[in-house]
Amino acid sequence: MTTHLPATTGRQLGRRSWAEPWKIKMVEPLRVTTPAERAHALAEAGYNTFLLRSEDVYIDLLTDSGTSAMSDRQWAGLLLGDEAYAGSRNFYALEEAVRDTYGYRHVLPVHQGRGAEHLISQIAIRSGQFVPSNMYFTTTRLHQERAGGVFVDVIIDEAHDPQSEHPFKGDVDISKLESLITRAGADQIAYISLAGTVNMAGGQPVSMACVRALRELCDQYRIRLFLDATRMVENAFFIQEREEGYADKTIAAILREFCSLTDGAWMSAKKDSLVNIGGWLALNDADLFEEARNLVVVFEGLHTYGGLAGRDMEAMAIGITESVQQDHIRARIGQVRYLGDLLTAADVPVVRPVGGHAIFLDARRFYPHLTQDEFPAQTLAAELYLDSGVRAMERGIVSAGRDPKTGDHHHPKLELTRLAIPRRVYTQAHMDIVAEAVEAIYAQRDSAKGLIMTYEPRYLRFFQARFDRP
Ligand code: F0G
Repeated sequence: MTTHLPATTGRQLGRRSWAEPWKIKMVEPLRVTTPAERAHALAEAGYNTFLLRSEDVYIDLLTDSGTSAMSDRQWAGLLLGDEAYAGSRNFYALEEAVRDTYGYRHVLPVHQGRGAEHLISQIAIRSGQFVPSNMYFTTTRLHQERAGGVFVDVIIDEAHDPQSEHPFKGDVDISKLESLITRAGADQIAYISLAGTVNMAGGQPVSMACVRALRELCDQYRIRLFLDATRMVENAFFIQEREEGYADKTIAAILREFCSLTDGAWMSAKKDSLVNIGGWLALNDADLFEEARNLVVVFEGLHTYGGLAGRDMEAMAIGITESVQQDHIRARIGQVRYLGDLLTAADVPVVRPVGGHAIFLDARRFYPHLTQDEFPAQTLAAELYLDSGVRAMERGIVSAGRDPKTGDHHHPKLELTRLAIPRRVYTQAHMDIVAEAVEAIYAQRDSAKGLIMTYEPRYLRFFQARFDRP
């Protein structure tokens, strides 16, 4: 296995460049605000980029979730919406797309990823059981904890080191996991919660070797292995690029192989699948599926729409097939990497290697004079917005929340500010602007003062917390 070094442009490598495999058919004007307007908007938003109005944002890198541009085929699919309460034709199209592309037997639509996280947590966790996972995701962990589960991080140590160049920083440390199993007893493990391209670690992939080893371990101890497939297509790209024996396999084949080693998956289709809303839960076990199918009517809607309109399911079915096309995924990761290369070349501290969906600025090294309790990553997102109108998101101490038992802040090793790149939305010129904006605030880093939290909501505080300048 080798860690690749990405190409910024073909010309620099002495070969021809590639470009996005699409052209733009419809445009949405952007608004550039003045520094005074931004200062006012940010103060009104309590220095939390989630509380800004999108009208006040120039380039929006808050998230890659639900922010994709749909294709003309997906838009056409919306007109084929069969808005029947039960048995919509679009549900069967979605079911077929998930079965074909991901390979699971039973499929339930849900309104978005956390709808599926809720269902799987309620049916597969008994109070007090452990849920080992390759790092955490905010909503995933919260649903597991609300179901009485005890989250345990079993990711490899390299994942917590932003400078480690390990090619698969999303991998599980099998010996950490096995020692938890032998200590707690297999019966006390609800399931292994495995996420592709680990969001909070910087969009870092999991290797096929890792999921294979997990399968063996799970078979040995009779534990279930469930996958957060939200960005698994991006994960498949990294396997193709970095793992021995996969260079000549298609993205679709790699994805199917990976999923075939797991017992089921939940999905936020707002990412890989190129839609603005939607998700699913898929399980191979018929009895467990039966429980999920019964519970979905309580929280989402009937099992053939799960909180979605027929047209949304059609757009999702089409998006799934587009998402595994090689030229699409190469351009998607290529654009993220292009921005990563610009920032790396300017010596801005970013999480390495650059991951699949976003650039993560390392706020600890960006602002070494701030303590973690002064919210360096939140500060960085605020400064970036003030400078340029570019919207980013905190992924550090605020996102990590508090320990449910002690009530203390979690203090994650990673204190990051995420620049998430929506799919098929911005051009290379926008990436140049973003890089220049980050470089500008990096040049003024010594004057950054940090923030104080003035309001803290109970759940997922990063969404709605408010801050002020000291
Ligand atoms: N799993 C992962 C890895 C995610 O990144 C997300 C959402 C979810 C589950 C939940 O899905 O939003 O459809 O309910 N991540 C978004 C983000 C919010 O910005 O990273 P959802």
